[in-house]
Amino acid sequence: MKILVTGGAGFIGSNFIKYWLKTHPEDQIVNLDKLTYAGNLENLKDIESNPNYKFIKGDICDRELVNEIVKDVDQIIHFAAESHVDRSILDSTPFIMTNVVGTQVLLDAAVKCGNKRFHHVSTDEVFGALDLEGTDKFTEDTPYNPHSPYSAAKAGSDHLVRAFGDTFGLPFTISNCSNNFGPYQFPEKFLPLMISNLVEGKKIPIYGDGKYVRDWLYVDDHCRAIDLILSKGKIGETYCIGGMTENVNNLELVKKVMAIMGKGEDMIEFVKDRAAHDRRYAVDWSKAQRELGYQPQASFDEYLAMTVKWYLDNNDWIKNVKSGEYEKYYQKQYAQ
Ligand SMILES: NC(=O)c1ccc[n+]([C@@H]2O[C@H](COP(=O)([O-])OP(=O)(O)OC[C@H]3O[C@@H](n4cnc5c(N)ncnc54)[C@H](O)[C@@H]3O)[C@@H](O)[C@H]2O)c1
Repeated sequence: MKILVTGGAGFIGSNFIKYWLKTHPEDQIVNLDKLTYAGNLENLKDIESNPNYKFIKGDICDRELVNEIVKDVDQIIHFAAESHVDRSILDSTPFIMTNVVGTQVLLDAAVKCGNKRFHHVSTDEVFGALDLEGTDKFTEDTPYNPHSPYSAAKAGSDHLVRAFGDTFGLPFTISNCSNNFGPYQFPEKFLPLMISNLVEGKKIPIYGDGKYVRDWLYVDDHCRAIDLILSKGKIGETYCIGGMTENVNNLELVKKVMAIMGKGEDMIEFVKDRAAHDRRYAVDWSKAQRELGYQPQASFDEYLAMTVKWYLDNNDWIKNVKSGEYEKYYQKQYAQ
């Protein structure tokens, strides 16, 4: 089988490509990625010469290129997105272009090329926020109520995917997952930022009072969940995917990381809150467990310790990203 992965040079996409080539060595993967600031081919260094892997630098909004690629694949797994809420507050234009228009271009191509199987990777942020004191969780039936330009653009893409299913019979599935963590996450995101700041002796900035609760999903569990959806999921269905955290807020998370790294609480710095900051996300993944057999494979604390260790062992990777060195890798490896 030949699979198009969009956004495969990003955090989750690169973990997914490596997961897939290991678990499905007979399949071929085409990685279409624009290499924005978040795309880093160093993430894929160890598989770049695999004969079943091909990288194409390009934009999912480029209709001609997308049509050309899609006609030659069996399935599309769509990760490519502008993904950082803070950036969407500064300028929402690239979010609308990539997350909405880019998804539409891919969907058009999937229909045009004979209704290719389409899996859309989305976020729990489309559901809005839960009360900090509550115990309820997002489910597949939670109404959409996005609060940031990022989540609004992702919500738009989810609606488009469903509309293409209804209108053109496109065989699709959608996953709405919680905050991912693990290796190769761009160090502007909370966990790698915090670890790399501590390594550099810098304080950790915490928005507002730090009482923001997230559900944390280890990236390998996410990859496995997508695999299960592709093999056992029902066409036209949505699956919520989450991890094993129970109401851990950002402040508690920072303290856990500082304890693993042997740092004191004087390294915490409270900073001005983000606009429209969602208080709590929690994901009920019982449908995926019931219908697909999905289950995270380790506890949150075990995964957290593994993740901290990975960043400490791969300090050069972080340094290259932070200094912009990683962009030279593409020039060196792929310029021709
Ligand atoms: N990271 C999370 O915690 C999380 C949680 C829920 C859902 N998601 C979703 O998972 C997907 C992947 O997230 P991520 O954290 O790996 O993101 P990321 O920002 O690390 O990577 C995004 C990738 O998409 C590429 N890209 C951006 N615009 C493109 C375009 N126009 N054409 C082609 N490629 C383009 C980038 O170069 C980059 O490689 C996204 O759709 C995101 O909304 C992420």
